[in-house]
Amino acid sequence: MRAELKNKNPSSGFVAWIDERFPLSSLITNHMTKYYAPKNFNFWYLFGALALVVLVVQLITGLLLTMHYKPDADLAFASVEYIMRDVPYGWLIRYMHSTGASMFFIVIYLHMFRALIYGSYKSPRELLFLFGVGIFFILMAEAFFGYLLPWGQMSYWGAQVIINLFSTIPFIGPDLSEWVRGDYLVSDATLNRFFAFHVIALPLALVGLVFFHLVALHEVGSNNPDGIEIKKNLDKKTGIPLDGIAFHPYYTVKDLVGLSVFLIVFASIIFYLPEMGGYFLEANNFIPADPLKTPAHIAPVWYFTPYYSILRAVPPILNSQFPGVAAMGLAVLVFAFLPWLDKSNVKSIRYKGHIFKSWIALFVVSFFTLGYLGTEPSNVWGQFSNAIPFIGGIDKATVVARIFTVTYFLFFVLMPYYSRKDITKPVPSRVVYK
Ligand code: HEM
Repeated sequence: MRAELKNKNPSSGFVAWIDERFPLSSLITNHMTKYYAPKNFNFWYLFGALALVVLVVQLITGLLLTMHYKPDADLAFASVEYIMRDVPYGWLIRYMHSTGASMFFIVIYLHMFRALIYGSYKSPRELLFLFGVGIFFILMAEAFFGYLLPWGQMSYWGAQVIINLFSTIPFIGPDLSEWVRGDYLVSDATLNRFFAFHVIALPLALVGLVFFHLVALHEVGSNNPDGIEIKKNLDKKTGIPLDGIAFHPYYTVKDLVGLSVFLIVFASIIFYLPEMGGYFLEANNFIPADPLKTPAHIAPVWYFTPYYSILRAVPPILNSQFPGVAAMGLAVLVFAFLPWLDKSNVKSIRYKGHIFKSWIALFVVSFFTLGYLGTEPSNVWGQFSNAIPFIGGIDKATVVARIFTVTYFLFFVLMPYYSRKDITKPVPSRVVYK
């Protein structure tokens, strides 16, 4: 049996020894050197690889931080200060991890935007996209749990606000929030469970989902900026896609260039601007948590602010904040419906018409405006005068947030309608590569 295998196997020596016991060479061949990706990948196709790199950076720096961090309400804040001041290169590890969190979201938002503009969620990539939405959910939870760990004022009060939101859910809410907290207010019990989730449960889920994401990707193959299925044009003799090139070496080398630029930006932030003016690390979080002193302005980290804005924009009904909480959850969940909302006969924005382009532009403006407003107090622009009918006496920023919350959702809700109406351009049969 072994001799038979050896004859079939082109590898020799140590690699052959491994191949007889583990499919190393065939994995490399099937997923790297003979995995054919479309030849027209552009800038937008870099971010999946970058997300993988950031994931690994977060896992390694997280592991190192765990060696010195103390998940105890009396010690946590001081242990982070100890890491920053006394642990050799502790400051570097911590800044890599805190900056890494923000970079993760930048990379993921760009990665998701690529899926939107090139219709990468459409058949046959629905499941690949759904794994992505799952990753996005878990990533948000991971960041939320991680933010409590330094036990600063923002950690404490941010967690207090968000966990209290659960209590607005009808019937199960109050019990649920107490269960999540493990106490009647955020306390040592909360810190312990958040630590457990942050360092083991969610990273495991994240790694598992990323694995499934990549398995699904290699099953169906990548989409591309033209939205053309390269598997439909195969070389008659070899069966290789005519518009495909081997992932390795072509895209490993291309990704290395992008990765170098990314690492320069990443390092520059770590060394020169680790707090990013309060956007990556908030000033209030350098003050130890004080359950008796609520900070004047509680705002989440920038990557949550579009959703936080939606939460604040939706008015309470019958004194319940639940509609806002539901809208916030729905704003994330709604991505999962995209494969079935988009009825266009083309995938890529290159061949879509003006209606789709206008809606996606409006969606981007809504996302950024909501993101900005979420960082500010809701009275940042003052109030409309009481003399204005219907909206008098309301914060101006709240009205703007309401308008953009509506446009955010309309992008999705009206998609089945406008994606059918839109006048699309004919899609070429082969990918365009200049
Ligand atoms: C830890 C997070 C993630 C990692 C490591 C990751 C990794 C990757 C990689 C390596 C690729 C192939 C390269 C590329 O197309 O850029 C990819 C493709 C893709 N990802 Fe992700 N991803 C993550 C999160 C997400 C999220 C949150 C979504 C959407 C909600 C998503 C949706 C997609 C889609 C639709 C594709 C196929 C794109 C195409 O072929 O045009 N991914 N991902």
